[in-house]
Amino acid sequence: MTPDPPATGDVLGQLAAMRVIPVVVLDDSAAAAPLAGALAGAGLRCAEVTLRTPAGADAIGIMAREQDLLVGAGTVLDPGQAEHAVEAGARFIVSPGLDEEVIRRCRELSVLALPGAATATEIQRARRAGLRAVKFFPAETLGGVRALDAVSAPFPDLRFIPTGGISPPNLQPYLAHGAVLAVGGSWMVPRQLIAGQDWAQISRLAREAARLAAESGPPPRIPPPAAMGGPAERERPAPRERSQAS
Ligand code: 3PG
Repeated sequence: MTPDPPATGDVLGQLAAMRVIPVVVLDDSAAAAPLAGALAGAGLRCAEVTLRTPAGADAIGIMAREQDLLVGAGTVLDPGQAEHAVEAGARFIVSPGLDEEVIRRCRELSVLALPGAATATEIQRARRAGLRAVKFFPAETLGGVRALDAVSAPFPDLRFIPTGGISPPNLQPYLAHGAVLAVGGSWMVPRQLIAGQDWAQISRLAREAARLAAESGPPPRIPPPAAMGGPAERERPAPRERSQAS
């Protein structure tokens, strides 16, 4: 697979600069506009809106339009869903697991794919597919920062967005990790607070998240995609050519 086009790198760079990505589950798209207002007002200018509920796709468009947030779709499980989400306004596509067909469709649509990867095998496949970053999911269940440390070590040219079980008490070590671009989480947008339209409390949690993100310092550099692009890989003759030459 060819590496991601440059536009997807811009979106990855923007997510990295924000450092914290709210993961939103909306039961009613009527909540999308006030929620976007609460996040933007707090300085969190991005969101992953999951497609776990029927309201998700509409909410993506509303949140992107209302406050000019950088909105992506989460829980994207097949290429058709990726397409639908992009039509709705999604600028990035997050999946819980690694699916090369979803990655390929995202590339055709020139949209950033962020698949979940939990093992070295999955991370290696994502790298071979030309990606620069994966979602490390479910981060805390997998063993947290220590697990990320171990599994990221063989992939110095890949970056990670840990998600799952992260909240203010355990956020800082993730954001301080040299391979972590940003962290995803739902702690500042709990489903019950959205259902209860408690925008004041959501704003408070979002402001705290924005403050912690700002205090965490800049993200690590995003290396160019390695798959099929590294000089070693380009210059090395294919095995057939080698055997013919000898
Ligand atoms: C998800 O996709 O549900 C995210 O991983 C959010 O996880 P969290 O609710 O534990 O933050």
